Parts: sequence; structure tokens; C-alpha cells
Amino acid sequence: MALLFALNGRKIELSDVDPSMTLLEFLRCHTDLKGTKLGCGEGGCGACVVVASRYDASTDSVEDVSINSCLALLGSLHLRAVTTIEGLGSSKNSAPRCPAKVSGISRVPVWFCTPGMCMSLYGGLKNQQRRVSVDGGKYESGALEQSIQGSLCRCTGYRPIVDVCKSFGSSVDVEDLGLNIFWKDRKDGRMELLPCYDPGDDPKFPEFLKQEIIQRQSAIDSTGTSAMIEHEKWICATSSGHAFGLLKHFQTRSKTSKEVKIVVGNTSAGVYRDWDHSVFIDISRIPELHVVEARSDGIEFGAAVSIAKLIDFLDENFKKAGSGIAKHLRKVASPHVRNAGSVGGNLIMAQKFGFDSDIATVFLGFGATLKLLVSPDKQVIQSMEEFLEGGGGVDDYPSSLLTMIFLPLRSHEAAEFKTYRASPRL
Ligand code: FES
Repeated sequence: MALLFALNGRKIELSDVDPSMTLLEFLRCHTDLKGTKLGCGEGGCGACVVVASRYDASTDSVEDVSINSCLALLGSLHLRAVTTIEGLGSSKNSAPRCPAKVSGISRVPVWFCTPGMCMSLYGGLKNQQRRVSVDGGKYESGALEQSIQGSLCRCTGYRPIVDVCKSFGSSVDVEDLGLNIFWKDRKDGRMELLPCYDPGDDPKFPEFLKQEIIQRQSAIDSTGTSAMIEHEKWICATSSGHAFGLLKHFQTRSKTSKEVKIVVGNTSAGVYRDWDHSVFIDISRIPELHVVEARSDGIEFGAAVSIAKLIDFLDENFKKAGSGIAKHLRKVASPHVRNAGSVGGNLIMAQKFGFDSDIATVFLGFGATLKLLVSPDKQVIQSMEEFLEGGGGVDDYPSSLLTMIFLPLRSHEAAEFKTYRASPRL
């Protein structure tokens, strides 16, 4: 089955492509879309940011998130819609107004990082539309400033870029915006003269892809067949049991432990680069690994839940006991990495490769427990200590799949639980 996705509304169908190619390489080497840039290639500079959208047929809803195209692999984008800077329009002709505002207010001299800035800002606007009811088209400028966290600028400086974020906000001080091409003189400083952002002008999730997803979903429901790509290098697991079986099968055949990679957002490639994997097991579409559930004693969630989704859930459901964790998790990497990277993947990096994980440290202090599938019909529950030490039975089960994580939030409601980061980020 061919790889199918939408690129700025256009249908892209690829039957002979390597699914482990990064989206950035595909954009720059196989299309004429050169606005998305390669900076660091490891999720650290934001020059490559695009927005990926996922349609959920069961709720008829679309979720748009900013991601790093230097880390996202083509296989993960099957049945998704991708918007690049070209999809937003140019500074002269941009209906969503991000490029127009960025160029008009910050007057950038070089357009290297700017497409990534615009896409990060656009991702932040979409995120706010999803999470809060936007007050009369005005946005929280502080949250928009956070959306460009992880996007580096070496020429213009951040002050005018932050001003662009403010220009969308509900409490803008016109003095902050200074001179810009929309106001010829400081005396003309009126908000009405700035281009107005209307979410109605944003790119829409393509109808052809919606219909394709609906049809494939009903085919799965009626026949039980998979609608995933079929490729010798990229296998989409449909359940935890399926993923475990695949892992065991390929691990037995492999000469080194690095040959097989379990993948959700592939953000670990920003840390462990140049590792050559011969097989990718995609667990990002397994429904049970995306469950997030508030229980009477805490929160239980699947290992494939993104770091961003966990932060949102903690903010919405556990304001008291969860706010400390959510605040700390916001300091992990950039919003784009947090949108794509899974909590489980982060913990696995800490366990297998000794990655200095903030999440593992916080969960260890919090008394988290984890569920691992160690055979097709056997699960074990481990404390974070056992998990990180690789003891408590893990050595007896060389093939194991992390499936669920539990945080005992209720037991911390009365007590103060605080975490600190030695090198803070804004
Ligand atoms: Fe730097 Fe992707 S190129 S984050």
C-alpha cells in the first residue's frame, strides 16, 4: 500500500520511497518547496518547522501541531496533511497573515529562520484555537511567545519577533510594536491598521484525504484489514500485542540492538543521530497507547502519548497536583519536539541509552509505575527505579514493550511536590 499524504492541499502518493526518509529531505530534494530550511538537523533550531494535521473520523475533528521536519519521517505522515510556509502564502499574499505580520513588524533582513518562525507562530495560533475559546479573535501573547521557543534567530534579534507575537495578543501595548510598515509614523499607531488574522483563512484539511480516511476506517471496521503502508522497512503495528510480536521477531533476527527501532515521533534522532536502523516499527497509530485517563488515584496514560498532550491533560484535569509536573515538562526541548515526541520514548531513552531525561527524573521522584508487555499475554508492573535499573525482571524479558505509565497524583495533592531545573529555560 502506497504512502499517502497531503502537502499544502496537494495529494502526494509514493509507492517507491524510503519511509524512513525525513520530511525535510523529501521537501528540499524531491519538491520545489525550498522555504523549509535545514539548520541543525537535530530539532534544536526550528528552521525546519512545518505544521502536521491529523483528522479523526470518529469525532470529525482536526488536530494541527507544529513539528520539526528534520526529525519527522515520511512513514509517520501517512494519511496526514502537511502545511509548509508556502501553504501559508508569502509576505505579500498571506491570507493567514503570519508571514505578512512577521515581515511587516520585525522587518527581518534575512529570511533563513523566518519561515520556521512563521510556522511555529501559526502552530501556536492553532494550538490556542484548540485549547481555549479565543476572546474575539485575540490571543494570549505569552503563549504565542512560547510557541516560538526552540526557534533560533541569529540576525534580527528576538525583540521584534516577540512584538509580532504581541500583535496577535489581547493586551497589546501599541508602544511595543514601534515602527512597522503598516504605520508610516508612530502617530499612526492604531491596531486596526495591522493586518487582521482570521482563522477562517487558514489552510483547511483537504477533503480528498478526509474521504480517504473515512473509507479506510470503514474498511477496517468491516473487514479487519489494515489501512497502513506496507513496506519491508516500515511496519505499522495495530495493537500492543502486534507490536510486541514484531519486536520479538525482528530482534531475534538482528545482529545488534540498534537495528530495530520502535518509532512514534522519531525525536530521539535529534540526540542519537546517524544510527542506521534496518526496520522501523511504527506504534504511533495504536489506539490503546494513546489513552489518557484520570483515575480516582491519579492519571494513567499510554506510552505513545505526546509530551504536549500530557501537559495539556495535567493542566486541564490536575491543576493542583499536576501543575508542578506540567511546568517542568514545558522546559523539555521545544514545543515542536514535545508535540511529536512521546513520553514513553523519552523514558526508554533514559533506560536504554542513559539519556539525561528530565521526565524520568521527575517521574522517579513522583513514584510513577510502568506497565510493560513482556510476552503476548503477560504484563509486568515496575517502579521507575526497577525500570531504569533494568532490573525487576527486565533482564529476564529481553523483549519488552512499554505500554502504560501511571502517576499517583492524588497522593501528592496535599503535599508539596516541587522540581527544579539546574539550567532554566523561559
Ligand atoms: Fe534545526 Fe530541524 S533543522 S530543528
